[in-house]
Amino acid sequence: MNIQMVDLRAQVAALRDDLDAAIAEVLSSGAFVRGPFVQRFEEQLGAYYGGAHVLGVGNGTDALQLAYMAAGIGPGDDVIMPAFTFFATAEAAALLGATPVFVDIDPRTFNLDPTLIEAAITPRTRAIVPVHLFGQSADMDLILEIAERHDLAVIEDAAQAVGARYKGRRVGLMGDAGCLSFYPSKNLGAYGDGGACLSTNLAMDGTLRRLANHGSERKYHNTHIGINSRLDALQAAILSVKLPHLDAWTAARQDTADRYDAHFADLDWVTQPYRAPYADHVFHQYTLRVPADARDALAAHLRAQGIPTMVYYPVPLHRLPVFEPLNMAEGSLPETERAAREVLSLPMHPELTADQIGFIAETIAVFAETYTPVAA
Ligand SMILES: Cc1ncc(COP(=O)(O)O)c(C=O)c1O
Repeated sequence: MNIQMVDLRAQVAALRDDLDAAIAEVLSSGAFVRGPFVQRFEEQLGAYYGGAHVLGVGNGTDALQLAYMAAGIGPGDDVIMPAFTFFATAEAAALLGATPVFVDIDPRTFNLDPTLIEAAITPRTRAIVPVHLFGQSADMDLILEIAERHDLAVIEDAAQAVGARYKGRRVGLMGDAGCLSFYPSKNLGAYGDGGACLSTNLAMDGTLRRLANHGSERKYHNTHIGINSRLDALQAAILSVKLPHLDAWTAARQDTADRYDAHFADLDWVTQPYRAPYADHVFHQYTLRVPADARDALAAHLRAQGIPTMVYYPVPLHRLPVFEPLNMAEGSLPETERAAREVLSLPMHPELTADQIGFIAETIAVFAETYTPVAA
């Protein structure tokens, strides 16, 4: 059985004619940077997001940096965020001279624990960054309420959660700006790098656009220090082909998650992904918890059967050498650290078949039967 974490070639094959036509159209037009293909995709994605403003940018990391810049984040500012996320969430803040302030996660959802935020607020705090990890919304009500009370910006890192909802509302639109990634393996992936900033406020969209365009609205009349970050036209045209399929792909991911859950229902040895009642999970990842001392052996056992897995994320950000100056010792974020030891993400993509899912689950069950805990 040929099982992949993500099957990009199968997806290309299914859309090949439409992709070839879209790419040919861009090549014939000569409009490679900005221009009609980017504008069309921004409008289409804006419509998908119920009329939100969408700015296509170079990648999800730039989207975060631009949102942070638009919120006025800079040297001396603190930005509250989880440490159980991809590096870019913190990197973009640090690049601007701000300090990431890491707060522990809710062990069920892997997302920021909102009840721990207030204790981390200082006079330097400027923003809170909920990350909707693995495709499931963070618990937003309390986060938004705290931000309002302390006059903080909320920047949503929705890189893994395109289309996900919180109490019926799309994630990425609840704070000051939302950030998407179109990295190829994302739920809506380009065939290269890409990203977007979402906003519901015209002034914010204008600020983001200016910052992404060298701090200028009018060419050669720069008013701010910005960056150069654009979604390129080829990627925009590809994303326009793919966007109409997003909801069906999401449904297929959810169906896969349901099948995995059904297989694991009687296997106490693994903890299935928790489904928060407030969230529509879009399952960018299907992530189990397993006993920490068995995780690597399980991954090796699966690999030997041709089943790939991934650990997102083995090193929490506060324990990375680059963030050593923050002085966050081992044990300072216990749930984040435990998650980093226990998580294992299984293959997850819309093309996964019921047989493949059954085989993966069966292989895990066989391993679990022979597992004996390492004596403490
Ligand atoms: C949570 C999170 N934030 C930010 C990013 C950065 O996105 P990109 O790789 O497009 O720069 C990613 C993905 O890679 C991500 O998973």
